[in-house]
Amino acid sequence: MTAPTIESILHENRLFQPSSEFSNQAQIKSLQDYEQLYERAKADPVAFWAELAEQELHWFQKWDQVLDWQPPFAKWFVNGKINISYNCLDRHLTTWRRNKAALIWEGEPGDSRTLTYAQLHREVCQFANVLKELGIKKGDVVGIYMPMIPEAAIAMLACARIGAPHTVVFGGFSAEALRDRLNDGKAKLVVTADGGWRKDAIVPLKDQVDKALDDNAAPSVENVLVVQRTHQRIHMEPGRDHWWHDLRQGISSDCPAEPMDSEDMLFILYTSGSTGKPKGVVHSTGGYNLYTHMTTKWIFDLRDTDVYWCTADVGWITGHSYIVYGPLSNGATTLMYEGAPRNSNPGCFWDVIEKYGVNIFYTAPTAIRAFIKMGEHHPKARDLSSLRLLGTVGEPINPEAWMWYYRVIGGERCPIVDTWWQTETGGIMITPLPGAIPTKPGSATRPFPGILADVVDLDGHPVKDNEGGYLVVRHPWPSMMRTVYGDDDRFRRTYWEHIAPIDGQYLYFAGDGARRDDDGYFWVMGRVDDVISVSGHRLGTMEIESALVSHGAVAEAAVVGKPDEIKGEEIVAFVTLESNYSPSEELEKELKKHVVQEIGALARPGQIRFSDALPKTRSGKIMRRLLRSLAAGQEIAGDTSTLEDRSVLDKLREDS
Ligand code: PRX
Repeated sequence: MTAPTIESILHENRLFQPSSEFSNQAQIKSLQDYEQLYERAKADPVAFWAELAEQELHWFQKWDQVLDWQPPFAKWFVNGKINISYNCLDRHLTTWRRNKAALIWEGEPGDSRTLTYAQLHREVCQFANVLKELGIKKGDVVGIYMPMIPEAAIAMLACARIGAPHTVVFGGFSAEALRDRLNDGKAKLVVTADGGWRKDAIVPLKDQVDKALDDNAAPSVENVLVVQRTHQRIHMEPGRDHWWHDLRQGISSDCPAEPMDSEDMLFILYTSGSTGKPKGVVHSTGGYNLYTHMTTKWIFDLRDTDVYWCTADVGWITGHSYIVYGPLSNGATTLMYEGAPRNSNPGCFWDVIEKYGVNIFYTAPTAIRAFIKMGEHHPKARDLSSLRLLGTVGEPINPEAWMWYYRVIGGERCPIVDTWWQTETGGIMITPLPGAIPTKPGSATRPFPGILADVVDLDGHPVKDNEGGYLVVRHPWPSMMRTVYGDDDRFRRTYWEHIAPIDGQYLYFAGDGARRDDDGYFWVMGRVDDVISVSGHRLGTMEIESALVSHGAVAEAAVVGKPDEIKGEEIVAFVTLESNYSPSEELEKELKKHVVQEIGALARPGQIRFSDALPKTRSGKIMRRLLRSLAAGQEIAGDTSTLEDRSVLDKLREDS
């Protein structure tokens, strides 16, 4: 683990107050209201969450105990019975929202669809009945490998409805990555599409599924349900593969939501860590429903007339919590877009905002930086006056990008919520409440009520204001991950043992460095472990290294992140070759392609640097700190005395 330094910390003093017009109509209207709420939640988090759970959600049966905390294992709303699909759909059907748009979808080639709550409910029920016909029962894991089409959300809600945990795998992952995840989760069925549109081309999703399942390589999978999207020719394996449009014929749209135990697993979502293969983050039902509901309501300041758009893919946690579950639980209109920013269509996001009159817009800093480069004449040529609130997520936002977003997209009237959270936290943890907390460009500001966040040293002691430290959370919260799927021990080691428990109090360690300023604002400084973020996508350096060494030419590999203006970080791989290979441009290309095949295009190294050896300590550990400096073209600072062979470093420096 790298100790956080404060070298990179920004000294940013600009403060942006929400307008009184915004605050007066907001869910949380002033700093004082936020502080009162925060203090109340801090004094008794259990009572705070219990009150909200009662007020905001439908329970088939009330819980016996709000929190059962056996560190590091939490159970929320013990013995409560609930169904998140019911909370997202059925309960709105008896209100005026029945005919409100639940999901607006804009397809990449310009097709579109709107589903009201009543229509979405019907689709979900039919989908759930088809899953049942294919033998899916409560507790069976279903893999979802889909493009950004309504059926992705429909499949998730259908699984939740019948109590089958889903594991969504981002459509950009390769067949190999998909196979690993299906095997780890022992998925019984895969929902996919013939293909999806991505940046003007078709992603052959079904072909990838075929590859993943070839030679019985994922033996738990019995059936594949295929949604038709791109209409190209695909192979359909008799007995295993079924078209959704065939099976839905004559299927009933009556499918009551299964009362689930609050702690029943809702989904597994794989994410990268600093060691080993990606881990299956397990989320359960009741606490996740409550926390995503409350954070969506207060942070995005939802009003019933809003059109809300989060640009994430449903393959990531942001898509789970803030396209599907949080917004629908609140009865909001959530927009889903199949396209992605690209040079061939530099105004695509702004067109969608104009077309649908989007009021709340939530995206990633990497997208904002790409748009800055494309030029502000694109957004300026569209009517963005419907926007009321902006958000960012996934990585630190640099103040320049923040200011551009504020000025050009928000017209200097929209507050920006810079939201810090993780796959593991289930929902947003540190963020402005937009009507209450003045913002500073680059700071996620203050913790959400009920979240006891802190910055500490390795012994668990709080560090002084403005000093760098480790970001931790002191008290369990409803949507925290429950475990690593099938590996409680890894869960304990990864998140709860880096920082020593003090007086028996366990701290959740997020893997990020942070600083808190004099106003109690948090400044997240990025990962302190070997996790890198490329365009907001989280990748473990070890995963990429394993992919590289699985190629016959590679003897050893070390991967580091290099700062990149748009993507945040770029992947640089230092590689030593087996003796019968020598460096060449072709080999570089081949190795990049190999990583894409093993993991997916998101992990393609920007650079591969061949070397005769890698800098190591005398105990044989690769000194990544030195490689990071080399990749960034910086002077090598700090101690190099533990290097086993100094000439390795000198040689690498000469070659750069
Ligand atoms: O390093 C932090 C960064 O993204 C990590 C979590 O990645 P993932 O699980 O893929 O979830 C991304 C979407 C929630 C964190 O450990 N991160 C996320 N949001 C921010 C951030 N870093 C700084 N500021 C943020 N707002």
